[in-house]
Amino acid sequence: MNKFLAMTNRAIRELGLLNASENIRYFAKVIRCYWPNRQFKSAHPEFKTPPRELAFDAYSAPDWDFYKTSGEGTAAFLATLIKQYQSSSPDGLKVLEWGCGPARVIRHLPGVLGAGTDVSGSDYNEKSITWCSRNIPGVTFLTNELNPPLKLSGNCFDVCYSISVFTHLSNDVCRAWVKEIYRVLKHGGIFITTTNGESKLEDLFPDEIEKYRSEGVVVRGNFEEGKKMYFACHSPKYLAENLFKCFEVLEHRSANFPFTAQDMWVLRK
Ligand SMILES: C[S@@+](CC[C@H](N)C(=O)[O-])C[C@H]1O[C@@H](n2cnc3c(N)ncnc32)[C@H](O)[C@@H]1O
Repeated sequence: MNKFLAMTNRAIRELGLLNASENIRYFAKVIRCYWPNRQFKSAHPEFKTPPRELAFDAYSAPDWDFYKTSGEGTAAFLATLIKQYQSSSPDGLKVLEWGCGPARVIRHLPGVLGAGTDVSGSDYNEKSITWCSRNIPGVTFLTNELNPPLKLSGNCFDVCYSISVFTHLSNDVCRAWVKEIYRVLKHGGIFITTTNGESKLEDLFPDEIEKYRSEGVVVRGNFEEGKKMYFACHSPKYLAENLFKCFEVLEHRSANFPFTAQDMWVLRK
């Protein structure tokens, strides 16, 4: 991002005007996606798409080609990882997505993981969960609050995953959710998650880089926590030694998660 734009964005955030600028961005995207979305709908009449505002709320793109293509690609990527790390029990897996939004990825998981897989998705956005429950078959959906707990008993999932959720939470809330995911995973279960890391340094201001280096965490607030404009960035060292330390780190890939420039973590309970 160029320096002028970055400074303008910072001023907009600090003045509390981000909501207004997001509304403008939403309408601009809706207009830009209008014809491509019409073409998508005529090519895929059976494919259910969420309300545009829910897609924008989750990942800024009310763009159905992106929703379908990135969702399918990410689900296939997750299935490969899951098979790699849970190969001893490929059937009958219980899988949870925390922060599933309007089902971009989770809707494809029963298909790619195969019959016998039990898939659940949770989100704190009740509108997304209402839409998912009415439109996406083969997945159980539930709501949670900004803070844990999940309405689920402990030790019940083989796999939990979250895509771009820690990236929008304060550190105390991240900490509480790491404990909660640990609670609902079975012993030996895996947690696949994404974070903003080193690759975001070029977008940070000098004072933020200093904070990243000294404390391991940078948070940009002045926006509703959990929403995409609430931004959090974590150093891998801080995550491995602090936030994720109750887990064994099986894999960390820098800026490598599909369709995002986020870090990917595979953790074992
Ligand atoms: C950037 S979006 C990603 C959505 C989805 N994971 C995807 O990749 O398409 C972040 C999602 O996390 C959800 N979220 C934020 N904080 C949450 C929390 N504390 N608990 C559950 N979901 C949360 C938001 O409502 C949103 O759907």
